[in-house]
Amino acid sequence: MKNPNGNSDKIARQYMDRLVVEQRVLGAVTPDARVTFLGKSFSTPLMGAALSHLKEGMAGYAEGMRLANAACCIGMGDNETLGSCLATGASVIKIIKPYADREEIFSRIRFAEEHGALGVGMDSGHAIKSEAADFDTIVGCPMKLPTMEEIKEYIASTRLPFFLKDILSVQDAVIAKEIGAAGVIISHHHDLMHWACPPVYLLKEIRKAVGDDFLVIADGGIEDGFDAFKALAMGADMVCVGRALMPPYSSDGPEGIARTLNTMTDELKSMMYRTCAETVKDIDPSVIHEAWWL
Ligand SMILES: Cc1cc2nc3c(=O)[nH]c(=O)nc-3n(C[C@H](O)[C@H](O)[C@H](O)COP(=O)(O)O)c2cc1C
Repeated sequence: MKNPNGNSDKIARQYMDRLVVEQRVLGAVTPDARVTFLGKSFSTPLMGAALSHLKEGMAGYAEGMRLANAACCIGMGDNETLGSCLATGASVIKIIKPYADREEIFSRIRFAEEHGALGVGMDSGHAIKSEAADFDTIVGCPMKLPTMEEIKEYIASTRLPFFLKDILSVQDAVIAKEIGAAGVIISHHHDLMHWACPPVYLLKEIRKAVGDDFLVIADGGIEDGFDAFKALAMGADMVCVGRALMPPYSSDGPEGIARTLNTMTDELKSMMYRTCAETVKDIDPSVIHEAWWL
């Protein structure tokens, strides 16, 4: 039986709950959570995680993001599915699987570019099985870990900003910047890698290593606006929310997603107010402390 302590979601939750926030209200002004991301204005730094295969449909997921004026990643799926998401008017970053068949990758990059996606990316880590040194097969599609040369080729093949997802180290984040990615999505892909470092734990070092001119997005266990505040304070530019949006999507459709994102943004803003951050960029990392006694 799998050791329950090896569950990366649980490890990340434990770390998140150790992060406590000091209050700085004197002189605080009403905060504004709007951000500019990839040249577009959004109401919130919260965005949809790269989900896939949702039984309620992917287009409704994208529509929820549009209603909240939030950016959105879309995960595995064919071009038709991506087309239905883009048709909602949502701002979508398409995360492409590391297919063994490289034409599958190029065709998705081309489609995303031709149909107005905001960006593209790849979750390279999903090429490797969680429990064996072998390549995975996902929904019948064989995967392969792309070589460095192949990744560079994918990045160079498009004028869209390219994101490397499932980055979980300073080393990989620095390489991603060096080879021309627009940014990284720091993620353990919902326990795909067991015993993974919590994404939020790595953010400060990653930010220090890549500097301010490189986009860093974080995901993994963001359950409310308070979690999002901590991730932003630790160095993320944007924060993805995945599983926390699934129950409201199931019960209330796209409106459920938009309502949940709006509530989370209100929570984030309350934390910004209490820490004297007028804008998301003003969130000061020094308000966060790690509670050694917990
Ligand atoms: C139903 C489901 C489908 C997912 N599909 C993909 C996918 O196709 N591509 C991908 O990069 N990540 C995928 N993920 C991982 C998410 O993008 C995200 O990294 C992970 O769920 C952690 O965020 P969360 O804790 O907010 O859910 C999926 C996650 C879930 C729950």
